[in-house]
Amino acid sequence: MKNLDFKNRDIVSIRDLGKTEIDYVIDTAKKMVPYAKGDRSSKLLSDKILATMFFEPSTRTRMSFESAMSRLGGKVVSFGSQEGSSVMKGETLADTIKMAESYADVIVLRHPQEGAARLATEFSTRPIINAGDGAGQHPTQTLLDLFTIKTEKKKFKNLNIVLVGDLKYGRTVHSLTQALALFGARIHLIAPQILQMPQEIVNRLEELGIETTTGNSLEEVISIADVLYVTRIQKERIPDETEYKKVAGSYRVDLNLLSNAKKSLIVMHPLPRTTEIAYEVDKTPHAKYFQQAFNGVPVRMALLSLILGKSIK
Ligand code: CP
Repeated sequence: MKNLDFKNRDIVSIRDLGKTEIDYVIDTAKKMVPYAKGDRSSKLLSDKILATMFFEPSTRTRMSFESAMSRLGGKVVSFGSQEGSSVMKGETLADTIKMAESYADVIVLRHPQEGAARLATEFSTRPIINAGDGAGQHPTQTLLDLFTIKTEKKKFKNLNIVLVGDLKYGRTVHSLTQALALFGARIHLIAPQILQMPQEIVNRLEELGIETTTGNSLEEVISIADVLYVTRIQKERIPDETEYKKVAGSYRVDLNLLSNAKKSLIVMHPLPRTTEIAYEVDKTPHAKYFQQAFNGVPVRMALLSLILGKSIK
């Protein structure tokens, strides 16, 4: 595949990338796997600095970006947590971003407000990578999700992909459905009615001619699923505690449920999990969520190197 121009690009929404570009990131990530595991070493980004700015908690996204940069010989600067920064003295997002652009070559931003990453691109001459903006988008999670599905299933077309849980507030599923639509997967949306996928996303899937079903029973679709993508109910984003209590614990993936699944079913989850996947599932061949979390490293290595204009042979 010919080289595509990613240099200095912002990655705010998965819709910023076309199908060919997503395939290119996935192919580049594949080459990064030995480096991500530490089996090979590289100084590809030794003259580059990444700034991580996380205004919301994170384990995987932050650590895998930092690991990706370090594995390629680059450096990371960070303001720690919001509480440890001058945001607590009233500094605006705009000024904070302007500081980061003078200390680093690329900025990874997570923020509770939908649209914050897009706004940040207006203040920064350095590329901005959205690491999650409220209930909006999480495009690098989508890239690693697609990488995981491609690695495990070798294709996307005609796979039955069941997304279950909080489809309203879960930003990972907003990004993922829009990307899967490009690749011709069949999408099944399973959620309590108050947490179903936003209608504008469902409409878009229909416009693209994607086979989509919606419902609230996981039992009804488990036997046809090739990929089961489980999400946490986003307690922190549901405005009303009473509404949360009505839907908390709606779904639980356990051995009993999986006894009706295909042998080849893979279970994914962006993590963190609470109660939606029983620990007994971890030991089954279905469980791919920890591998999925590792895949964040080669995928983010690929993205950082492409955005910073460096390529690995
Ligand atoms: N998947 C994900 O975004 O995890 P973190 O919130 O731990 O970064």
